[in-house]
Amino acid sequence: MNQDYFKSWVEAKKQSGSYALPPRIDGKNDAIILVNDQEIINLSSNNYLGFANHPSLKEKAIEAIKTHGVGAGAVRTIAGYNDLLETLENNIAAFKQEEAAIVFQSGFACNAGVIQAIALEGDVIFSDELNHASIIDGVRLSRAKKFVYPHNDFKALKTLLQEHRSSYRHALIISDGVFSMDGDIVDLPSLVAVAKEFDCLSYIDDAHGSGVLGPYGKGTVAHFNLSGQVDFTIGTLSKALGVVGGYVACSQIMKDYLIVNARPLLFSTALPAAVLAPLIEGFKLLKDSQKQVDLLWHNARYFQALCKELGLTLLPTQTPITPILIKDEARAVAISRACLKDGVYISAIQFPTVPLGTARLRVMISAAHSEEQLYKAAHIIAKHINA
Ligand SMILES: Cc1ncc(COP(=O)(O)O)c(C=O)c1O
Repeated sequence: MNQDYFKSWVEAKKQSGSYALPPRIDGKNDAIILVNDQEIINLSSNNYLGFANHPSLKEKAIEAIKTHGVGAGAVRTIAGYNDLLETLENNIAAFKQEEAAIVFQSGFACNAGVIQAIALEGDVIFSDELNHASIIDGVRLSRAKKFVYPHNDFKALKTLLQEHRSSYRHALIISDGVFSMDGDIVDLPSLVAVAKEFDCLSYIDDAHGSGVLGPYGKGTVAHFNLSGQVDFTIGTLSKALGVVGGYVACSQIMKDYLIVNARPLLFSTALPAAVLAPLIEGFKLLKDSQKQVDLLWHNARYFQALCKELGLTLLPTQTPITPILIKDEARAVAISRACLKDGVYISAIQFPTVPLGTARLRVMISAAHSEEQLYKAAHIIAKHINA
């Protein structure tokens, strides 16, 4: 096959200076990573609470391989599900104060699978314009009609609902809980009120809220004291929980429906024991994790104040996600490369992850960072931005 189109696409991207690949890391992904034998301060991991390298999670993974082997065998609707998966789902449901939960292979698979399964022909979806790509893809896979509403604008959403709601059977309102590239939080009380007023299902992707917001990191819904009032709460097991996987917390009836309709559960092999066992441990730790959550927020406030002192332009974040606006894509990539040479890894986020002209350096703060590391990193970033 002629591959010229792809060759010239890559060449043009490289020419523009915005073709960027992350570094190869030798060993673990932690607050400090090893790149070409150099110790680098890592500001690009979603390992919010430091669980990715927690000794007791690692221990549980090793034990589980000994008792359960390394593979799940097949998809869960064919091979069956093991005791660890059942325990994990029960623990997630309890933590999220919902009747039930279903674990998926990733947060991405969860959004793609759940949205496609619940929004059918004759239904309608209302989706925030800054929702994550996995929501966008789930919406594309669904046969429902789609309306995108302006970011966090529930007046505009209400206008759309007044005009269109009555033409469809079910309506679904979908929003990120914490917006992953901006760090701001959904106006959940307004979303829930609008959903009630117009008889809509509500759907929150809390990938960046779980482990971060609310008491013990219970998430965005708990942060607003609205437990039980959101129909679907999605989470990932790859960020604060430090491993991999995704889940939806919902009613038992929706679990009964989704378990035989969500395509990633029907057509993709389940997570292995070495993933499930450390996640069970992670949820146990979360119940007692207020100190770690507080440390995460302390680090975030410390770093964000430092950035402002150094004259950096932060987007209006409300969480530890710290986006530093650069605008130009090639410039963002060049600054990211310069920082790496100086011992700081901070990825340049560009189109299509964010809108064109809003390229940014996105700092992901962790409880695993020390103040000394954050101080050093902020000064190196500022040096290259202000150069
Ligand atoms: C808001 C949001 N939803 C879903 C996902 C996908 O999660 P996972 O990495 O577990 O597939 C991400 C992760 O990047 C995310 O930021």
